[in-house]
Amino acid sequence: MRVIVEKDKDGVGRRAAQFVAALVRKRPNCVLGLATGSTPVGMYGELIRMHREEGLDFSRIVTFNLDEYVGLSSSHPQSYRYFMQQNLFDHINVDARDTHVPDGRALDFEAYCEQYERLIKEEGGIDLQVLGIGSDGHIAFNEPGSSLGSRTRLKTLTHETVRDNARFFGGEEEVPRLAITMGVGTILESRQCLLLASGASKAKAIRDTIEGPITAQVTASALQLHRDVIAVLDEEAARLLERRDYYLQVERAQSALQSGELGAPTEGS
Ligand code: GLP
Repeated sequence: MRVIVEKDKDGVGRRAAQFVAALVRKRPNCVLGLATGSTPVGMYGELIRMHREEGLDFSRIVTFNLDEYVGLSSSHPQSYRYFMQQNLFDHINVDARDTHVPDGRALDFEAYCEQYERLIKEEGGIDLQVLGIGSDGHIAFNEPGSSLGSRTRLKTLTHETVRDNARFFGGEEEVPRLAITMGVGTILESRQCLLLASGASKAKAIRDTIEGPITAQVTASALQLHRDVIAVLDEEAARLLERRDYYLQVERAQSALQSGELGAPTEGS
């Protein structure tokens, strides 16, 4: 896993947006996996800025969101569809028909989840999956104990997640107890993953994810099995990482390589 530590939350947003933008420029018809929560908001803001000021073109992208609360319609202010419209889709030139967020009001959830998986495959699979992380180390809504091979399905939220997300709903009672979520197995099939985290409340989950054992108790730790994951963290979220110096060294070597400093000596040198 490549680990990049930025100074603060804004730095995480900017750096993450650079990765997404680079892909969109290189492959304008790429398939992006998107996430909700407070963490990626800065990244979305930066992508909107790039669209407005630099003409970053989203007209050919296809998007799939990770999850949605069961029972909330797309017009509910706490639904993830609503979040995506407000924080990204309404401000860029993505074709609405190419944005997919699971339907929290599907009639037959089993059939719907299978169809969501099929749709991802039909679009050629996800090129880059953006991920936040729950304070208990979950990705999407794959709560502790989720199968590491799981696919899109319904999941019961843990008390910790309900409590964490109560701030958006104005109280725990209002938080739905069920969600529809891509599985860990679905996420691992993405070609590349971009894991974002900021703030001290994520420090333990991040340590467990990056330096702990792979376990279904911390579903983000399954990312260790993926060959191409970039974690972009702020100082606080990276605080408990033991091998921080090494990650820094890797980044320095990487930039030296890119700038040609480590290239073959030129003739006569
Ligand atoms: C929810 C979402 C996750 C998200 C997590 C953290 O559980 N399903 O996808 O990563 O919240 O949210 P935040 O970024 O607000 O801390």
